[in-house]
Amino acid sequence: MSRTKIGVLISGGGTNLQSIIDNIDKGNINGEIKLIISNKRDAYGLERGKKAGIQSIFLSPSDYSDFQSYNRKLIEEFKKRDVELIVLAGYLKILSKDFVSEYKDRIINIHPSLIPSFCGKGYYGDRVHQAVLDYGCKITGATVHFVDEDADTGPIILQEAVRVHEDDTVESLQKKVLEIEHQILVEAVSLFCAGKLRVEGRLVKTNRGDNCETRTN
Ligand code: GRF
Repeated sequence: MSRTKIGVLISGGGTNLQSIIDNIDKGNINGEIKLIISNKRDAYGLERGKKAGIQSIFLSPSDYSDFQSYNRKLIEEFKKRDVELIVLAGYLKILSKDFVSEYKDRIINIHPSLIPSFCGKGYYGDRVHQAVLDYGCKITGATVHFVDEDADTGPIILQEAVRVHEDDTVESLQKKVLEIEHQILVEAVSLFCAGKLRVEGRLVKTNRGDNCETRTN
């Protein structure tokens, strides 16, 4: 099976990006990252891409007249490289409707909670973990999902849970959840590249088997 051409959008440190790079190198993902784009000039994820020999560019939204034209530029750059799968790895901007329809069921996002809890507008990064602690939740986790036209509402691909301990802080929770993010994002991208993901309405069939357990660490 030929390798899936992947495009990655980032805004920050890029640890999720790094987990994809590492697992491509280990042969766990039958894909090739053709381009990494950041909307933030100082995103360390750009350094990670350059170190891995992947074309990594900063595109500033302020260089474009509006939201639509910025998204058209993103599409243009990915199309130029025949990208087939877009991964949002810590990307903090909303995509345009044009972008989402151009890559329907081919945009994967990672979110640091068990959607539909603590997601949507305003729920990103540490704010998610703070909301989990404030609510007194005993379980949280991460979700990988296809992107549709709204924020964090697309069909869910994979989820994994972690226990919230009484002495957990935003930092300790973020660390635990990030480990899960790396695992399920890699697995979801690997399944996509193996042609094993099938979207049926809101349901995503993964052919993964039901041997997934809830982690309780
Ligand atoms: C992660 O918490 C992820 O859930 C969110 O962005 C954060 C940073 O991820 N989407 P990364 O280290 O930049 O991959």
